[in-house]
Amino acid sequence: MKNRQLAQKLYIKTYGCQMNVYDSGRMADVLAPLGYTLADTPEGADMVILNTCHIREKAAEKVYSELGRLRRLKTAREKQDGRMILAVAGCVAQAESEEILDRAPFVDMVFGPQAYHRLPELLARLKRAGKAVLDTDFPPEPKFDYLPKDVPEPGAAGTSAFLTVQEGCDKFCTFCVVPYTRGAEYSRPAEDVIAEAARLVAAGVREVTLLGQNVNNYHGAEPAGTETWGLGRLIRELAETDGIERIRYTTSYPADMNDELIATHGEVPELMPFLHLPVQSGSDTVLKAMNRRHTADDYRRLAGRLRGARPDIGLSSDFIVGFPGETDADFAGTLGLVEEIGFVQAYSFKYSRRPGTPAAAMDAQVPETVKNERLEVLQDVLNAQQLAFNRSCVGRVLPVLLDRPGRKPGQLVGRSPYMQAVHVDDPIEGPGAIVRLVITAAHANSLKGVVEIREAGAGTIGERVTA
Ligand code: SAH
Ligand code: F3S
Repeated sequence: MKNRQLAQKLYIKTYGCQMNVYDSGRMADVLAPLGYTLADTPEGADMVILNTCHIREKAAEKVYSELGRLRRLKTAREKQDGRMILAVAGCVAQAESEEILDRAPFVDMVFGPQAYHRLPELLARLKRAGKAVLDTDFPPEPKFDYLPKDVPEPGAAGTSAFLTVQEGCDKFCTFCVVPYTRGAEYSRPAEDVIAEAARLVAAGVREVTLLGQNVNNYHGAEPAGTETWGLGRLIRELAETDGIERIRYTTSYPADMNDELIATHGEVPELMPFLHLPVQSGSDTVLKAMNRRHTADDYRRLAGRLRGARPDIGLSSDFIVGFPGETDADFAGTLGLVEEIGFVQAYSFKYSRRPGTPAAAMDAQVPETVKNERLEVLQDVLNAQQLAFNRSCVGRVLPVLLDRPGRKPGQLVGRSPYMQAVHVDDPIEGPGAIVRLVITAAHANSLKGVVEIREAGAGTIGERVTA
């Protein structure tokens, strides 16, 4: 029997990637049996967790300014004879460990991304020790085995949910901290993933996004046997699960895209025609210095193969400008690649020097002013491509998974197959339905649509479709 304890309020602030979003959800699951329920604000919370991101310097620094603000709340709480446990989790915790306690001695707990299944134990240790506890080891046991397996409350998981299938990274791109903060690559057994997907469906989820730092290198144990499954095989299996209408996966490493996965895009209608495939740069010299294991031409060919399998696939990417040694000609190579490929969406960043990574020690660091200029030029091109793609959708009918209320009364916001946010004023159906919308307007970051009225008659209005 579960030992339900006094109601306690838990506030979690999540920074960074989708995997952190997933992890924050699991932290809440682990703490629920101890009586913690989620609160919307840190005011009055009994425990506050900052689930942090270390990917760029700015991301890491944000944590310390937030800690400064929380310190005031914590002190105020103590003056009223209360207590607020303040915890730093995630990749800053992993990377900086004790340093956090030096810089912010009022922090009670520091634990890394591989330790949160031990939260109850850490809380007990905190109570006993009366001083800050730290857990930034990479434990021998995979945390997934220790996470609660309850079905979430109906609606609690939303209509679209993340599902971590793979974690960690062995690629060691020379700019990146992830291999150090998330550890070595690990794939969850397929059976676990399938069971978790079934629990999500039971809670009302209709779209799952499979997560991993190198998700396309998934190679989890197959349900009954000694072989492993690749991501394509896993997706085919999940597509057979009743109730899963849409599948996505992120993030992929270009050199790990294999034939089966590419074919899956053409053969499994539940797999959405959208792929985030970070290229980082269009210059082979820079790609080599980044240790990316693909050339610009490899990426072009890969885009061609994906489009061969699924002609309407929308590609998205990540870019870094101002990597050490990047010349004007290298940057022109990136712009050229962008023009050729045509992205429907993208993220671009100025190179951020991360202590301990090989690129941080490279000569020819690029001046900030040059990084700023290049970022602006690149973002102009990428934004124009995104807007052009959005505009090309006007007049088309797209199946949209309705998800959450919009700003206007009665309005809902959903997602197109290509990940665009679509606003609909009179949706007819509620969240969780997939409705066919005629796209009537396009903006930089969203579309507007109306429910398609079929000539066949009123009966088909707002009809549910599966793709
Ligand atoms: N495969 C990972 C990618 C990790 S980081 C995933 O699952 O998300 C996300 C993006 O941040 C990278 O693709 C890269 O474009 C960017 N990034 C990583 N390290 C960076 C650095 N030091 N400076 C600037 N951008 C960086
Ligand atoms: Fe980072 Fe490269 Fe891995 S970007 S997450 S080291 S693939």
